[in-house]
Amino acid sequence: MTPPPQDRPGGAIGQPMNRVDGPAKVTGRATYAAEHPLPNLAHAVLVTSAIPHGRVRRIDTTAALAVPGVLTVLTHQSPGVTLRPVEAPYPKGPAGSGLLPLQSDEILQRGQVVAVVVADTLEQAEHAATLIEPEYEAAPFIGTLAESLTSDREDLRAPVEQADYTRGEPEQAYRAAEVQLDLTYTTPQEQHNPLELHGTLAVWESTTRLTVYEPSQWILAPQHTLAHHFGLDPEAVRVVSPYIGGGFGSKAATWAHLPLAALAARVVQRPVKLARSRAQEFAGVGYRPATKQRYQVGATQDGRVTSVLLHADSQAGMHNDFPEQVVNITRMLYDVPHMRTAQRLARTHAGEGIMMRAPGEASGSFALESAMDELAYAVGLDPLEVRLRNYAETEPESGLPFSSKLLRECYAQAAQRFGWARRTPTPGSMRDGDTLIGWGMASVTYPVYASAATARARLFADGRAEIEAGSQDIGTGTYSILTQIAADGLGVAPAQVRVFLGDTRYPKNAYSGGSRTAASVGDAVMAASLAVRQDLALLAVHDPASPLHGLTPEALEMRAGHLYAWADPARGEALSVILERAGRDHLEAYREVLPVGGERKNLQEMMSAKNASVPADAGGYARHSFGAIFVEVRVDPDFMTPRVSRMVGVYDVGRVLNHKTARSQLIGGMIWGVSMALHEQTDVDPTTGLVLNDNLAEYHVPVNADIGEVDVTLLDVPDPHASHLGVRGAGELGTVSTAAAVANAVYHATGKRIRDLPVSIDKLL
Ligand code: MOS
Repeated sequence: MTPPPQDRPGGAIGQPMNRVDGPAKVTGRATYAAEHPLPNLAHAVLVTSAIPHGRVRRIDTTAALAVPGVLTVLTHQSPGVTLRPVEAPYPKGPAGSGLLPLQSDEILQRGQVVAVVVADTLEQAEHAATLIEPEYEAAPFIGTLAESLTSDREDLRAPVEQADYTRGEPEQAYRAAEVQLDLTYTTPQEQHNPLELHGTLAVWESTTRLTVYEPSQWILAPQHTLAHHFGLDPEAVRVVSPYIGGGFGSKAATWAHLPLAALAARVVQRPVKLARSRAQEFAGVGYRPATKQRYQVGATQDGRVTSVLLHADSQAGMHNDFPEQVVNITRMLYDVPHMRTAQRLARTHAGEGIMMRAPGEASGSFALESAMDELAYAVGLDPLEVRLRNYAETEPESGLPFSSKLLRECYAQAAQRFGWARRTPTPGSMRDGDTLIGWGMASVTYPVYASAATARARLFADGRAEIEAGSQDIGTGTYSILTQIAADGLGVAPAQVRVFLGDTRYPKNAYSGGSRTAASVGDAVMAASLAVRQDLALLAVHDPASPLHGLTPEALEMRAGHLYAWADPARGEALSVILERAGRDHLEAYREVLPVGGERKNLQEMMSAKNASVPADAGGYARHSFGAIFVEVRVDPDFMTPRVSRMVGVYDVGRVLNHKTARSQLIGGMIWGVSMALHEQTDVDPTTGLVLNDNLAEYHVPVNADIGEVDVTLLDVPDPHASHLGVRGAGELGTVSTAAAVANAVYHATGKRIRDLPVSIDKLL
């Protein structure tokens, strides 16, 4: 018996471990959906509509079909393109396409597919696609939220019932308030723009078995969507999605290219690859809906908010009702006694909106946290002091205690790290030479979404371990944190663990959105790993031939492939020996875990879009992540070019599973917030109704030169009411309120209050 090695495993959770998938990604060995090498692959290209509304009068495919290598052209007139509609909400995904492609001549949105060209090579398909010039019958269109709101057409309006909310006597309290502010904020349509384009590679294994490679934030969505469309058993549809190059919400639903790739593959009886172009990403795979938010804020002279009346309008498509949930943050963030919120959808021919990075909170926080800054100036108080005077000790809507709320700590640490005490309040009063300096801040919050989760763990005689979960790593670090959780659960080193995600052959899980994956799937991986370790311990203690015989499993620890008695490190034996005596080459456990506060339902129900989330107030606690963001901008007084030179964020996200990946998530989120503040907007051509800037040259996002110092602190205090591991979501939090902090800093620098995003130079001149 060799003495136990000193390098104790355990304690992997929290370590700033490098991403386990990093080397594969940076060396090109990670195979993204459209890269799967398949023999005999045919290539499909989409032809999209030149009008956003009307119908296809005639579509001539003769010239395209005459191109050498072209195998087929599918249009709404082709035989065999009928797709059965998706009946139940379950398989559709959280939102997504209600308009099936090629089912009629009607055009209801920009970017709608009118034809699919399939050829031997991509070049042939692309060339042939240019030869298809449909004749259209154009109808009047609504291109933008502003156009929709100025129209008197009642059919463009739809209620958002969950946004209708009242507490107290809001109108009365507003009218009676010492200070009244009536402020309207607008945010533009924005696009997700993941680096990896959407696309599908479809292979029919037989007439009833289909495999698709599709980058997906929820592999059950394409599985069930395709099963419905083609009348297949869901289990006969396999979705493979091991690597995802960003999704940000747009890959949580399914879009037209998915069934079209499968249709094309069935018609040409070959595997088909259908990848969107960058331009085709700007219409047809969702967007962050534009919003208009009117805030009437009543307050006392000493900065206490007494009443908020919020009316929001948000952009939608013609046939889906995705609401950008802007009002939620206003309902829960501050201790406001009187409040009314309401929201309406305003339909446009932009197609379906869908959740995009911190959906609702990102747009809502811009308005709320700008309004709080305006209140601070109106009453002559420091913006941070105004937040503290309205601090909510309990969740104002439900009256529930917060599961854990360290927002005061976030304010204090962030203010200190930033040097906020040196701020002089008057706009334009801080300068560096000629350059105007502005300092702004905002409160940050995002709800806890949690889902039922499942995972399988295997431990082999040689000490290697495998985890399988039909979840997804959308680029956030899920492979890495699950490796760390499994390592600690099993008692092995992280290097011994391999995690397998992104395949419908693995145990079912909910969608990776709403920052839920770490908390939800993490709990399932921990449960399965602990179960395997328990089984191993039981084998040993029940086996008279084992030196551990007669001990309790709790008296044992795993180290370097051996089980040892805690109390007597010389007493132990190798995993391989224990398994060999038991006649096993591995141990395996599968676990289904309900989120904290979740109710028992059948698994399919727990995974469904409607039931995917346990409410943020489950288990008797209001569950939200928190943070504080402080921003410095520098503005050239001649050109009025705002630059973010410095950001300090302190975040309360529960337990941190990996300090490197969590920090990276927050840095990315903060930069996204700068992008929202200063750069992003989808420009619509008023003449054609199409997107003008449908490329990454004209749709602006920040580059490294646009981002100064980014300082992130994670408090790392576990929240046992949020998940079994004490984890809350971190991914989307960084985006929340950053745009407001930037706009507030721009006001402090220039005295110009910009209530319409992005804060572009033209608005400052
Ligand atoms: Mo995120 S918008 O929930 O992918």
